Amino acid sequence: MNKNIDTKALLELDRQHVFHASTHLKQYADGDMPGRIITNAKGIRITDSEGVELIDGFAGLYCVNIGYGREEMAEAIYEQAKKLAYYHTYVGHTNEALIPLSERIIKMAGQGMSKVYYGMSGSDANETQLKLVWYHNNARGLPEKKKIISRDRGYHGSSIASGSLTGLPLFHAHFDLPLERIKHTVAPYYYRRVDNDMSELEFSAYCALELENMIISEGPETVAAMIAEPVLGTGGIVPPPEGYWSAIRRVLDKYDILLIADEVVCGFGRLGADFGSLYYDMKPDLITVAKGLTSAYQPLSGVMVGERVWKVLEDGTDQWGAIGHGYTYSGHPLGAASAMCNLDIIERENLTQNAKDTGAYFQQRMKETFADHPLIGDSRGIGLLHALEFSSDKNNRAHFDPNLKVGPQVAAACLEEGLIARAMPHGDILGFAPPLVVNRADIDDIVERAEKAVNKVTDKLVHSGGWKAA
Ligand SMILES: Cc1ncc(COP(=O)(O)O)c(C=O)c1O
Repeated sequence: MNKNIDTKALLELDRQHVFHASTHLKQYADGDMPGRIITNAKGIRITDSEGVELIDGFAGLYCVNIGYGREEMAEAIYEQAKKLAYYHTYVGHTNEALIPLSERIIKMAGQGMSKVYYGMSGSDANETQLKLVWYHNNARGLPEKKKIISRDRGYHGSSIASGSLTGLPLFHAHFDLPLERIKHTVAPYYYRRVDNDMSELEFSAYCALELENMIISEGPETVAAMIAEPVLGTGGIVPPPEGYWSAIRRVLDKYDILLIADEVVCGFGRLGADFGSLYYDMKPDLITVAKGLTSAYQPLSGVMVGERVWKVLEDGTDQWGAIGHGYTYSGHPLGAASAMCNLDIIERENLTQNAKDTGAYFQQRMKETFADHPLIGDSRGIGLLHALEFSSDKNNRAHFDPNLKVGPQVAAACLEEGLIARAMPHGDILGFAPPLVVNRADIDDIVERAEKAVNKVTDKLVHSGGWKAA
């Protein structure tokens, strides 16, 4: 316990003054749901003001990839702050941290990337993406070609445009979203396929056909770009079925439609590759990065622009003058310094390789522990991303009554076991995304705690809910 902190009094003040993200506002303000003050963190563990230590099986919000409490990061930020804490990047101004960082991530991403525009969050980076795509088609003399196709269950942020790109009802309802220009096609969610007999390849062809039908019915001359995560993240941690990305790319090429790879979660090692787009050979025209770029030690995001789009943007400024887009904090030196140090750590400690190797062990341990468990319909993942999807009748992939909140119940049971796993916002799905520094012993620990939690909720459902496993 941290003796200097009066948890109860501080939380009371918090309830009075802080507007929390993704929270039932009234329940929290009224004290009907718990709060937690996180005071310290080291490696893969966080500690609260009451001295409770938890294994962070979700790396914050899948972002603290190098783990917590890295003094080297604190020093890099401190040194940069002493030298130059801030200057803007308008009209050709730059800073010493930003230049090598940009060269480095452009090289890492490959795939014809040319320039990086910086922001502070994944949401604002995806806002930038849409503005660039629209400007690009105006510069090409195609002012009608503006619609953006996203996917059901995609997650791209929660601002007006990025929240519209997000394909989850929670982020649209009561906010008058999505915007008119944004359409959603089917998710590559093989587990939830309607036709049980389809192979993965057939399902990928079906997804590509659905996309093509949408493009045709909207009018190809009106569709500018598709945005997609290499692996669906917040929508349920769903790796794509076999052949998905090549089938999608073929359709986009046929209709002159750009592909934006949203690498906010997948970028910088989480799948065991530098980028998800490289792993799946997506051939994107634009890439969004955030989270793992700094491991969240500073807020920093980036829009990587491929050569083909970049040339058109340059020509646009020849016609119209300086581009009307800029954030005060774009290219912030503290963000850039922390990104450089973060990438040094990832490289020096082979964390991407660890995500591949320890990730393979993680996938194997999760599958052998849960695949036959009566409560688990699907156990899926790649690298250091995994999801358990709960089903009331696993043979028929039936959903539990959403009012039972089985996902949140298991997440709460995990907490009792000292483990943070995330109840994903849509469906009874529990997500895992531990920091990339985990070793096999950590994985064993995570899997054992998760198993206890799942068994606890199973017993509860059987005994107090009368649930019968199929
Ligand atoms: C794939 C993806 N894109 C964009 C975002 C939005 O990022 P931010 O929360 O930093 O705005 C997220 C956040 O989880 C994400 O997972």
